[in-house]
Amino acid sequence: MSDTRIAFIGAGNMATSLIGGLRAKGVSASRISASDPGADKREQLAAEYGIAMFADNAEAAANADVIVLAIKPQMMKTVCQALQPALRPGQLIVSVAAGITCQSLASWLGERPIVRCMPNTPALVGEGASGLYATAQVSAAQRQQAEQLLEAVGMALWVDSEAQIDAVTAVSGSGPAYFFLLMEAMTAAGEQLGLPRDSAARLTLQTALGAARMALGSDADAAELRRRVTSPAGTTEAAIKTFQAGGFEALVNNALGAAAARSVELAEQLGK
Ligand SMILES: NC(=O)c1ccc[n+]([C@@H]2O[C@H](COP(=O)([O-])OP(=O)(O)OC[C@H]3O[C@@H](n4cnc5c(N)ncnc54)[C@H](OP(=O)(O)O)[C@@H]3O)[C@@H](O)[C@H]2O)c1
Repeated sequence: MSDTRIAFIGAGNMATSLIGGLRAKGVSASRISASDPGADKREQLAAEYGIAMFADNAEAAANADVIVLAIKPQMMKTVCQALQPALRPGQLIVSVAAGITCQSLASWLGERPIVRCMPNTPALVGEGASGLYATAQVSAAQRQQAEQLLEAVGMALWVDSEAQIDAVTAVSGSGPAYFFLLMEAMTAAGEQLGLPRDSAARLTLQTALGAARMALGSDADAAELRRRVTSPAGTTEAAIKTFQAGGFEALVNNALGAAAARSVELAEQLGK
């Protein structure tokens, strides 16, 4: 990665996180360039990370080995079609845009190596979870480059088929919001049970973090960890039985199914 030249098209939240992550991992500023229409943003990123900033996308991409498309999905077609004549064969395209398929990208950029990623919002704090899919033209070295890029902001995991990106979207892409919803509900319930709101919120958040850290550090799966903390006829069992009587697992299954179906629909709309 240290020899790779990386260009970011669009220097918003996701690009800034990736740039910050790469710099923190020791990638030299001279290897990174980015483009953005916002003069303030260009000045800010140049000052903060010492990277070359351009108003023109083609200029930013000119010498890059890896071109990261980090613009809004709605902008993708226009930006790609304008960028296409400036591209060189062999440059790796990495798209982090939700709902833009490799087929759409190839139709706007021409056939070339493409990696489609689905990151999530915790990437903004270096704790992202990303799914990656590579087209057949992507070499082993380029796969490694894409993986290391996304690993700069968390964990990265390859999927075998592009359809699985819809499942990644349903699990981790939209996933932070599911946990936020549970945190919201637990905080409200804690308050209802007599805790000050702030205390209920802090206890909820630390419990979420602690549970995630325990699960990540354990060989046991979530079901086993749950069983270990659920004593017969105890308080946890009373809560879990209530969740299950309300159809919790089926509800989660339906919710993620709805997210995946929406991901397919959006890709159809955005690809036109
Ligand atoms: N943020 C996340 O957590 C997250 C998670 C998963 C996936 N993603 C994906 O990451 C992509 C970027 O999201 P984001 O949250 O970083 O959005 P963002 O903060 O809005 O960043 C997009 C940047 O692109 C700039 N831009 C607009 N038109 C451009 C053009 N023609 N050429 C070059 N740059 C242009 C925007 O400038 P203006 O602001 O001046 O328009 C903005 O600075 C999206 O496709 C999104 O689906 C983001």
